[in-house]
Amino acid sequence: MRVLCIETTCDETAAAVVNDRLEVLASVVASQDALHQRFGGVVPEIASRAHVERILPVLDETLRRAGLGLGDLDAVAVANRPGLAGSLLVGLAAAKALCVAAGLPLVAINHLQAHVYACRIAAKEEVFPCVGLIVSGGHTSLYRCLGPTDFELLGATIDDAAGEAFDKVAGMLGLGYPGGPAIQRAAEAGNPSAYSLPRALLNHPRLDFSFSGLKTAVRYLIAGPGRVRFEEIRLPPQQVADLAASFQEAVVDCLVGKSMQALEQTGLRTLCVGGGVAANARLRQRLAQETQGRGIRLFIAPPALCTDNAVMGAIAIERVKAGLFEPLDIDVFPGGRADGQ
Ligand code: KG4
Ligand code: ZN
Repeated sequence: MRVLCIETTCDETAAAVVNDRLEVLASVVASQDALHQRFGGVVPEIASRAHVERILPVLDETLRRAGLGLGDLDAVAVANRPGLAGSLLVGLAAAKALCVAAGLPLVAINHLQAHVYACRIAAKEEVFPCVGLIVSGGHTSLYRCLGPTDFELLGATIDDAAGEAFDKVAGMLGLGYPGGPAIQRAAEAGNPSAYSLPRALLNHPRLDFSFSGLKTAVRYLIAGPGRVRFEEIRLPPQQVADLAASFQEAVVDCLVGKSMQALEQTGLRTLCVGGGVAANARLRQRLAQETQGRGIRLFIAPPALCTDNAVMGAIAIERVKAGLFEPLDIDVFPGGRADGQ
């Protein structure tokens, strides 16, 4: 069985062909980072227009690399929730058109469930039930994952997502966009204890996160209160490195601490981590340290499967096997959660 998966939830135009052994026959990701760079974040209208320009070449290239035609496929799958409305619509329209043209069934993917499923694909073994930490540019949440598509919310950020905080702080430090990889690079030369920064809710039993106070604390360290033009501020390189390292450590402390708390509270012994921030080297290192010796199985996909991609759309295979197809009039759900709410 072969499925063509399409991903356009945010600012990557991606497609992949996977089979029911979870093997990747082709994968293409067209990044829009360069288009959004000067705005320091994703501009929804620019993202949807870029998806329109890229979706057909990306689909052509994916099928070419797989050496397949539409007639060789068994289904078309597309992430239709959650994400930016205009971006989601481009992928969904393309998927529907392919289904009509080739007489194929349509499968809908929940993008957040797919981020956790990336761990299952990379693991090549069963990972459910598990605690799922989804940590990306738009989401930071913990779920009890009973199966690939059976999630219960444990907690989530009450303000900014962790990736959003990385992007904003990188902007203040003049490190560019996307902020996560830039902060990680800058932090290599920095001292993570140089600045004492808040770890909100870390010692609270609720499984929620808050990163806006941390972001503000970094802002005050750089520029103090009041209106400021960050592009005019030139900090010494060592201070930038120390701020990046201290900020990264604070975010990692919260993500690791809450994941451990979720494992304790649920009694689950497996942790799967997905989403763009799961590509962070320091987070991966700290999670490995904390889970080792406690008998916790840790699964994090390779970095290229943490940031948005279509390979994780292989979660659709689960629905194809169960015959769970969608009518061609389905819509997008920009605000959806991983538990279907
Ligand atoms: O999952 P993703 O590609 O898109 C969303 O669904 O949001 O996540 C993108 C986010 C961005 O905020 C980016 O800065 C962050 O993931 N990110 C990282 C790293 N690589 C990407 N954050 C920290 N360290 C990284 N190495
Ligand atoms: Zn994502």
